[in-house]
Amino acid sequence: MSQNYQNDEAPIRPYEVDGIQELDNNLPSWWVGLFVFTTIFGALYLVYVHLIGGTSIQKEYDDSLKVTYAASAPSGGDSNEPTELNAMIGNPTSIAAGKDVYTANCAPCHGPSGEGKIGPNLTDNYWLHGGKPDKIYGTIFNGFPESGMPAWGGILGERKVRQLAAFVTSLKGTNPPGAKAPQGAPE
Ligand code: HEC
Repeated sequence: MSQNYQNDEAPIRPYEVDGIQELDNNLPSWWVGLFVFTTIFGALYLVYVHLIGGTSIQKEYDDSLKVTYAASAPSGGDSNEPTELNAMIGNPTSIAAGKDVYTANCAPCHGPSGEGKIGPNLTDNYWLHGGKPDKIYGTIFNGFPESGMPAWGGILGERKVRQLAAFVTSLKGTNPPGAKAPQGAPE
């Protein structure tokens, strides 16, 4: 029965299933090395992350996300204007895309032409939160939930919010019928 294996160095394991036998080979050293390494790594990781409060991979990921978000968030002032947004201002393709997003999400409160309803008129020169493109971007992205303007950044994403900022910027001076009275300060 074991004759077929006589030339192999490894002994045959003491069972047989459907006439099939198994050699009791040593595990390859690279495999054993990997096993030992991952076991030790796992134990050290467990102690480091869960017992002595080290930085977990999840936390590193969250931190790097924060950096990314901070880098792409609207700038506070004019000195550091986001170039991707600037490229879309006045760009007909971006404005057309922004109009579609506007019609689907914003028209109920700001009117189909931006003339204003619950939300303020977006076509005049008066702004509650600033009329520069990066301010408009910031208003749309972060909203003013306490005064009824939802935050759209998390819902629509940066790209669509930029398109919206391009569209809203293009509304200035369009003077639609039924325009709501100005709110805020002139710009
Ligand atoms: C649920 C109603 C509602 C919806 C939907 C809404 N808004 Fe508003 N929005 C408001 C209100 C109310 C304000 C005024 C907030 C305040 O008084 O601070 C506002 C303010 C703004 C402003 C600032 C205007 C200013 O004078 O500074 C902009 C820009 C704006 N919204 C754009 C949008 C865009 C773009 C969308 C669609 C993605 C949108 N809004 C959807 C209610 C809404």
